[in-house]
Amino acid sequence: MTITAASAQRFVALPSPSTTGTMSLEQTLRTRRSVREFAPRPLATVDLSQLLWAAQGITTRDGRRTAPSAGALYPIELYVVAGDVSGLAAGVYRYDPHRHRLESMVAGDRRAALARAALQQDSVARAPAAIVIGAVYARTSAKYGRRAERYCAIEAGCVAQNVALEAVARGLGTVVIGAFDDAGVRDVAAMSGDESPLIIMPIGRPR
Ligand SMILES: Cc1cc2nc3c(=O)[nH]c(=O)nc-3n(C[C@H](O)[C@H](O)[C@H](O)COP(=O)(O)O)c2cc1C
Repeated sequence: MTITAASAQRFVALPSPSTTGTMSLEQTLRTRRSVREFAPRPLATVDLSQLLWAAQGITTRDGRRTAPSAGALYPIELYVVAGDVSGLAAGVYRYDPHRHRLESMVAGDRRAALARAALQQDSVARAPAAIVIGAVYARTSAKYGRRAERYCAIEAGCVAQNVALEAVARGLGTVVIGAFDDAGVRDVAAMSGDESPLIIMPIGRPR
């Protein structure tokens, strides 16, 4: 069921992630390439769900995740800027890894605004959706002080590679985007003041 603006709900459950696949890790590594041109086709919710799980999914009872985190403090936050995702109303969503669900933040298609914040990069405007990787430095600086920004950047890189390899395994493509205006991305994603955007990853089927 598509969630329309009229019936907009705050939380959107995602399909359960799969932990089996048909492509080997080595094949995904061998195949991964930055993809900047996408077919004009919707992204399936099941694919979005799997990519978010690969990025930050919880894999143990004590809350450990698919990607490493300094001191297991988990400063990374993920946002989805969805424009053409089947079954999901266009909007900005925050991923809740604990419940594997999305929280609606902003209604409406914000891809063009995100592309403007990303210095007009077409890949961001044309992909059916983008994942924005942000970090709350304070979670990490409470323990690691001035190394927090470094640690958060390292963690964002680990998360991005998980997303990139999962994308390949599902016949999708993405690119790590680091060139953007921080304030613009923060505004589009409705991030709180203590969050810093680190990476944008447009997602879609390679054209
Ligand atoms: C830190 C970082 C920032 C990047 N920023 C951008 C970007 O803003 N736009 C873009 O199209 N590609 C960006 N890239 C992707 C690189 O251009 C790409 O990884 C490189 O050309 C190598 O190609 P490959 O990823 O296909 O191996 C970035 C990559 C990294 C690691």
